This record gives sequence, structure tokens and C-alpha cells, in this order.
Amino acid sequence: MSSRKKLIAGNWKMNKTSADGVALARDLVVAIGKQAEVDVVVCPPFTAIESVGKALEGSNVRLGAQNMHHEASGAFTGEVSAPMLRAIFATHVILGHSERRTFFGDTDEFVNKKVLAALKNQLRPIFCVGETLAERESGATLKVVQTQVERGLEGVNRDQAASVIVAYEPVWAIGTGKVATTEQAQEVHAFIRGLLTKLFSEPVAQKVRILYGGSMKPANAPELLAQKDIDGGLIGGAALEARSFVELVTAAAAVK
Ligand code: PGA
Repeated sequence: MSSRKKLIAGNWKMNKTSADGVALARDLVVAIGKQAEVDVVVCPPFTAIESVGKALEGSNVRLGAQNMHHEASGAFTGEVSAPMLRAIFATHVILGHSERRTFFGDTDEFVNKKVLAALKNQLRPIFCVGETLAERESGATLKVVQTQVERGLEGVNRDQAASVIVAYEPVWAIGTGKVATTEQAQEVHAFIRGLLTKLFSEPVAQKVRILYGGSMKPANAPELLAQKDIDGGLIGGAALEARSFVELVTAAAAVK
């Protein structure tokens, strides 16, 4: 099948104190810290990120942030920057999550600035796109996703593009228990890969990992992950417990 290595990323959102995060990270290190078949990233909240990073040291589990500001430093109360994340050995950063877009005013333009800043600082963006229920019901899904991808990746060059990770997360499937059908997900993933081909090149598009996110669980993951253009998952709820997260990594490793 595809030569792209599967990636399972945990988005802990606003959950886990530093101590709780470290406990979860330690369990993950024991269970999946040595496996190398699947790339694994966890994205704790900022108060836990450094201590979780220390707990992951020496393992194959990578550290990511859930957001960042595009400037390197300055008068931006409440924000953190790419160099700050690099300094604690983060390798990934979630950008443009629908919760940021909905509740915190992250526009396509703002997300684009963050994507460019992440790439400039050798952080791999997990760049999120996805339609709302109203947009899906009105038949606008592909148009919405196209606009988000084109605007969010504006100015990214071909060399940088292969290290971008795209996450397709239908907003109506996030935290709702309503997972997209495999056909719905695969359709949008293939569409995104087509867009990446147009924006960058076929070889680049073939390298980019496109994750599915939205109520992915051990029960529905094998079918989703078996789709040609689904290269992993961005996991919310099921990433908060070692057992379900480990099962997802195992499910990704089992897809050949
Ligand atoms: P969920 O969240 O798995 O809880 O639906 C996914 C996400 O928001 O990244």
C-alpha cells in the first residue's frame, strides 16, 4: 500500500495537570515507547508540556503543542512561540484546530502565519481543516476544505510542504461520538491529496500524511486507517487514557 508511515497524534486539549500528564506519558512509554512502526506524538496543555517531554525522553513518542503564536517573542500576553517550543524539544504543533477557529478567532490568515513560523523553526505543523455540519449539509464540504487548505498553506514552499501534516477533522465529528463514514473520510482525504498535488507536486502530495480526526476510537480505527489516503489519526477523547491510545497505535501498526 502506501509508503507513508502512519502517525497517531494525541490532542489532550485542556485536560491533565502536569502530574496527571506525566503519569499518562510514563504508561505510554512503557507500552509503546520502543515501537517504531508508527509515529506517535502527544500534545499536552502548556502547563504539562515540559514535564511530559522529560517523561518521554529516550522513547519514540514525540512531543507536540496544541497551538502557538507566529512571532518569536514580544508583547503577546498569554502566547508561546515556536522557539520556546523548540527549546523544550517539541517537534510538532497542532495549528488551526476547529476549537481554536471557533472559540479563539483563528482565521485562515492567522493559521497561515503560524504554519509558516512553525516550518521556519523546524516544527512540523499538524494543520487542521474540516467543515461544520451546516456546511456538509449544504454540500459545501469540499469548497470549505479547499479554501482552508489553500489559505492555510499559502507561501509554503515545495521543500517545506512534505513535512506538513494535514488533519481532516469534520467539526461535527469532534467529541460527538459521530464518526465520519470511511467513504466520507476517504473522499475528503483523496480530495486534499489532489489539492496538494496541484499546490506542490505529485511526489510531495504522496509524502504528506493526512490524518483523520473526530471520534476516532479503537473500534472504528481499523476501517478508517485501512483507507488509501488516511495516514493516521488526530485523537482527542481516546488519547486521554493509555489503554485506548495504545490500542489505536496498535491498530495503525496492523494496517499493511
Ligand atoms: P475527538 O477529538 O477524538 O475527541 O473527537 C479529536 C480532535 O479534536 O482532535
